[in-house]
Amino acid sequence: MRNALTMANEVRIRRVSQDDERQRVREFFGAHIPGSTAFPLPNRQVDAALGTPSQIWVAEDSPGDLIGALFASNNPFDVVAWRQQGQEQVAAVIANEMAMIHELAVARHAQRSGIGSRLARAAIDNAQASGAAIATLIYDQRTPGLNDFYENLGFRVLAPGELLKLHFAALRGTPVGFPQSDRSFRWAAMVLNSARCRIAE
Ligand SMILES: CC(C)(COP(=O)(O)OP(=O)(O)OC[C@H]1O[C@@H](n2cnc3c(N)ncnc32)[C@H](O)[C@@H]1OP(=O)(O)O)[C@@H](O)C(=O)NCCC(=O)NCCS
Repeated sequence: MRNALTMANEVRIRRVSQDDERQRVREFFGAHIPGSTAFPLPNRQVDAALGTPSQIWVAEDSPGDLIGALFASNNPFDVVAWRQQGQEQVAAVIANEMAMIHELAVARHAQRSGIGSRLARAAIDNAQASGAAIATLIYDQRTPGLNDFYENLGFRVLAPGELLKLHFAALRGTPVGFPQSDRSFRWAAMVLNSARCRIAE
């Protein structure tokens, strides 16, 4: 009989990029995240147009079935918004230094065996290696377990609806605010390079 621990040891985590694999991940999110997907998973052409490449990670069991997936990128909504305001420097700093996890799900039968944590760690380590100074995400605090999950990973979790305020050294300390209009949602953030980014108190 396979228990959760045996299964976790057999799970392979890998990064995917081809469009047919993205489609598989899109369907997985549709099936495993209620109300998914607020942030549509872009194809390679959209990635190229936005200039903010997607990070898509999957967890597969030994027959190769998809049992977990994560989608992260460089916060393209804010990058585009700042560009539209003519704030190229702010847009460039966000695109280079702010990684954002948009979607993360593990199949119900495989939860609580460390797979979600492994997917998140893979994305965060990769973002850090690519030069990101901060990893962020927004989550619905009404979903059970998420506060513990993100705090265990080392994220600082803000109060519901609280503004995330970041000081990037490249912007000479002028803070950039990221609002949260829905009071059920929270920002979570993890500093990856404290010389280049810090969270304002
Ligand atoms: C959130 C989710 C991705 C976590 O994945 P996972 O593989 O089950 O998480 P892990 O096994 O890595 O959990 C690590 C720790 O997080 C905490 N945690 C995770 N799920 C939890 C839950 N439902 N209740 C309480 N704590 C939880 C625990 O502290 C856990 O450690 P422990 O099992 O040793 O106690 C998964 O539950 C999921 O897919 N949920 C549905 C979709 C969703 O809500 N996605 C989030 C979108 S932001």
